[in-house]
Amino acid sequence: MTISKIRCVETSRISNCTASNAIKPTKEKAVTIAAKGIEMIFQSGTQRFVALKGIDLKIPKGTIQLLMGPSGSGKTTLLSILAGILTPSSGSVHLLDKEITRMSKRELSRFRRNHIGFIFQGFNLFPALTAAENVELALNIKGIRGKVARRQSVELLAQVGLAEKATQLPRNLSGGQKQRVAIARALAGDPELIMADEPTAALDSHTGQAVIELLCRLAKEGGSTVVIVTHDPRIKDFADRVAYLEDGVLDNSSIIP
Ligand SMILES: Nc1ncnc2c1ncn2[C@@H]1O[C@H](COP(=O)(O)OP(=O)(O)OP(=O)(O)O)[C@@H](O)[C@H]1O
Ligand SMILES: [Mg+2]
Repeated sequence: MTISKIRCVETSRISNCTASNAIKPTKEKAVTIAAKGIEMIFQSGTQRFVALKGIDLKIPKGTIQLLMGPSGSGKTTLLSILAGILTPSSGSVHLLDKEITRMSKRELSRFRRNHIGFIFQGFNLFPALTAAENVELALNIKGIRGKVARRQSVELLAQVGLAEKATQLPRNLSGGQKQRVAIARALAGDPELIMADEPTAALDSHTGQAVIELLCRLAKEGGSTVVIVTHDPRIKDFADRVAYLEDGVLDNSSIIP
């Protein structure tokens, strides 16, 4: 069987992340995400499909890491495993020095709630709640309530350029606006880890750029670590590192230890 390679490279930083914000050499930085020997086998009836074939990946704190590769290469599967949404068939994932692959469902759900903001490809907004209420709910789940949550929800919407749409229901928003609400929601509670699956897929070029700049700024100023699955070559300019995935394989020869 031929196994195609994934490359992992460091990208040059764009000017938006200024020199004072520029990341230090990777070796000096703490590792926030460490995945080792990740395999994912999907089994339905007699059908067996190996989606990930032994992936090792280390992502230092404060890094913006892209996962790129062709459709079906395993990007969403890998991101879901890194976020503790899917359990791998084998291998381990450490997030913030905790092994999430050994946690009970309950521990894992608490860990995700406290530390991870996830941006889904399909928005996943509650249709009966306004934009602000969608964000407020995420804040409530993280223990931020009442007036503080209401104020923060509007501030978060303002950060993604949507303050004037705070009282609108998702059905009255464009696809791009819905995605920005989803991003504001993922930022609720200032999580250490932000994981995003194709976050700019529904956005026009200008809005996509603004959203990625926001993620970049958060990662650098707030010390958040961001993992983004994308097909969008524009995002490369904002990233610290890019891992290319193909046929469920990652070439770790160029990953910085
Ligand atoms: N629940 C599942 N059961 C069986 N096979 C699955 C399941 N989920 C994903 N796969 C398979 O695993 C492979 C990787 O899927 P994945 O969604 O991770 O790809 P991707 O790189 O995110 O693709 P895209 O760019 O199209 O979103 C695909 O071949 C897919 O069909
Ligand atoms: Mg996908």
